[in-house]
Amino acid sequence: MIRGKFITLEGVDGAGKSTHIRFIKDYFESRSISYILTREPGGTDVGENIREILLRDEMGPITESLLMFAARNEHIASLIRPNLEKGIAVISDRFTDASLAYQHGGKGVPKELINHLKGMVQAELEPDLTILFDLPVEVSLERLNNTRVLDRFEMQGYDFHQRVRDTYLQLAMENKSRFYIIDSTKNITDIQNEIITIMDKALS
Ligand code: TYD
Repeated sequence: MIRGKFITLEGVDGAGKSTHIRFIKDYFESRSISYILTREPGGTDVGENIREILLRDEMGPITESLLMFAARNEHIASLIRPNLEKGIAVISDRFTDASLAYQHGGKGVPKELINHLKGMVQAELEPDLTILFDLPVEVSLERLNNTRVLDRFEMQGYDFHQRVRDTYLQLAMENKSRFYIIDSTKNITDIQNEIITIMDKALS
């Protein structure tokens, strides 16, 4: 049995991830490729309960990191690995790169702590492809303020989001073989064509 592809989607808040996820879903549906679409924090009953706490309640950055990884541990064990092993593609709206970008980059949690937790819950598991929807912070904050009620992370200021973006770009530099950066200032048709090219390559 060939293991399913593990694809993760990342980016600063407001980079249009939700819109592109709908397109990615259509890509898989129209080609009849078996897949599941899931998200972090979340993806399981336990994870979705943890997500509610994370997005609502104030807490220290280490508590936040531990909860992200508690949800992730459950997600990997009960959803991600079993599906990959059955040959089903798993698309996750955010994964561990988000903990490096938000908790380490944004909030200063030591990288060593995040990487230690990563080793514990992931072992050898890494995404085959990570699409980073990148956007300058000025643009992402403007889009966020115009479109929705903000959660606890989205309410953070300019400097926080700048650090998150910089950390994502740094991660992309350090992991060139699995990262693909999409410039989210481009128009939607160009982005969708780019997504088709990346997916065709990843699934070939
Ligand atoms: P997101 O999927 O962007 O939610 P939505 O699009 O519905 O607003 O993720 C929720 C927030 O969680 C987002 O602001 C980033 C944050 N997050 C972390 O800080 N660390 C993590 O490890 C993960 C997975 C998410």
